[in-house]
Amino acid sequence: MKTDEIRSRYLNFFVKHGHRLVPSDSLVPTNDPTLLFTGAGMNQFKEEFLGHVTDFTRATTCQKCMRTGDIENVGRTPFHFTFFEMLGNFSFGDYFKREAIGWAWEFLLQEMKLDPARLHVSVYEEDQEAYDLWAKNVGVPTDHIWRYGEDDNFWPAGAPSKGPNGVCGPCSEIYVDHGGGCGKSTCSPACSCRRYTEIWNLVFTQFNRQDGGVLVPLPKKNIDTGMGLERMAAVMQGVRFGMDIDLMLPIVQAAAKITKQTYAVGRTDDVGQRLKRIAEHTRSVAMAMADGALPDRLGRGYVVRRLIRRAALDGSAAATWCVG
Ligand code: SER
Repeated sequence: MKTDEIRSRYLNFFVKHGHRLVPSDSLVPTNDPTLLFTGAGMNQFKEEFLGHVTDFTRATTCQKCMRTGDIENVGRTPFHFTFFEMLGNFSFGDYFKREAIGWAWEFLLQEMKLDPARLHVSVYEEDQEAYDLWAKNVGVPTDHIWRYGEDDNFWPAGAPSKGPNGVCGPCSEIYVDHGGGCGKSTCSPACSCRRYTEIWNLVFTQFNRQDGGVLVPLPKKNIDTGMGLERMAAVMQGVRFGMDIDLMLPIVQAAAKITKQTYAVGRTDDVGQRLKRIAEHTRSVAMAMADGALPDRLGRGYVVRRLIRRAALDGSAAATWCVG
């Protein structure tokens, strides 16, 4: 299935379930000077999460996101991107865990036609409600439900003990099992062997964290979900690297052409990694500049400059090797 079709099926599915289709915010956040770049679908809904806007209580988006915390992994690992699209459905004091979990499962099985035997889920270790919804309502076998701590299954990660203060909550993640992997008896979706790919994070935003890690229940509970579009496309297109999906492959191949290299799906050697990085950073830079973040010495402009520099260095390295 093409990436464009996944995007439209997702948005249509949630519109059908009463969500307002809201456009992606700019990568340069419209109403949040505290953020360098928009990094998640929920960024544009801070006011709604605090209950300040009341004309709609359900939204769905495909949000342009920029995250550079893992920039060194781009090209090396299957799914690190600096720019990516995040599909999301949101509830502002409207539906909660039961519907969010039920609709996620329905979408994956009925719209994406995924085999449930390949799906695993995780819940926050103290969230028995989510565990029971997966086990009893949805019928996920208990050997496909994993309990993890606050570093894996809380949003923001580790919020109860480390902060920041503000709205937060336990989350539940959905993973696709590719098989293989390390084969260890301890292997689970959290394993670094990459047998499992996380495709969707359902955040149950139910607390307002205050000083000292005090979690005060919110008067109105919210849902914030994020599905990685490129990850889902890789699953649907049967490729292990996000850079090999239909949206990315032509850009990687264009980088190969310019540097007089060849690129075939799955190439992971040094040149393959560089070509993927060039493609990824080029796309990121194009998206950032289209939203008004121009190369500069400071702030978000510095991020853009750094991306260009990294891609250029990879380009000159990849092009030099072809000579020999
Ligand atoms: N905000 C959560 C995330 O970024 C879910 O959308 O994963």
